[in-house]
Amino acid sequence: MLGKLLVMNMTAQRWRYIQEYSKEVFGQEDAHLSGLMQEAIANGLPSIAITADVGRLLMILASTTRGRLAIEVGTLGGYSGIWLARGLANAGRLITIELEDKHADFAQRQFELASVANRIEIKRGAALDVLPHLAEELEPGSVDVVFLDAVKSEYPQYWTLIRNLIAKGGIILADNALGSDTWHIDDESDPQRIAMDKFNRLVASDPEFEASIIPLRNGVLVGRRM
Ligand SMILES: C[S@@+](CC[C@H](N)C(=O)[O-])C[C@H]1O[C@@H](n2cnc3c(N)ncnc32)[C@H](O)[C@@H]1O
Repeated sequence: MLGKLLVMNMTAQRWRYIQEYSKEVFGQEDAHLSGLMQEAIANGLPSIAITADVGRLLMILASTTRGRLAIEVGTLGGYSGIWLARGLANAGRLITIELEDKHADFAQRQFELASVANRIEIKRGAALDVLPHLAEELEPGSVDVVFLDAVKSEYPQYWTLIRNLIAKGGIILADNALGSDTWHIDDESDPQRIAMDKFNRLVASDPEFEASIIPLRNGVLVGRRM
């Protein structure tokens, strides 16, 4: 009953207010991060980065792990990578995967400006080509944080490739768990929605993980290996 009432009281206008409120109260950033995406867009990169309130969430959650090694799928201009790197331990490393050289080149400059370049390695290529190599090179259970933010329809495959790398106490984070600019979780016939639903259910039903969703922006899945 309560759930039904809450849904009935939710309007598009209220939802927009909630999103803006979250950014206003929880979206403070330093001068570099606040200008990063504007510069990225001026350089021809698409405006599809996470927002600052989501970035802070990634940083906080990363800091609850041992923070030794993180993998990000989908670098873009390095915005989320900088938030993630800031949540890791002092010597913690981030491997971030990016298909487009233009995005990777821009991100590399941003990592240098943010003084985190010595802890971040950009792997260039398609995630489905890069991840199998990482799965061979890295020890199972050696990754403390995974953040998925690339091709939504590939998330179930990313999960299959990356799951065994996640340490006990490590976390999987995934953006767009509830939608994007082009589809939402209630569009039940949309192929991207179908893939995301499959991914959400794979993580939710994994006996070694506990997971839930934070309905911030496009929804962030948070799972932890128990
Ligand atoms: C949503 S953006 C990532 C945003 C970034 N995580 C942030 O919030 O700052 C997705 C990125 O994934 C990249 N991408 C697209 N297809 C890819 C693939 N198959 N493998 C790896 N990266 C891919 C895109 O070029 C784009 O830069």
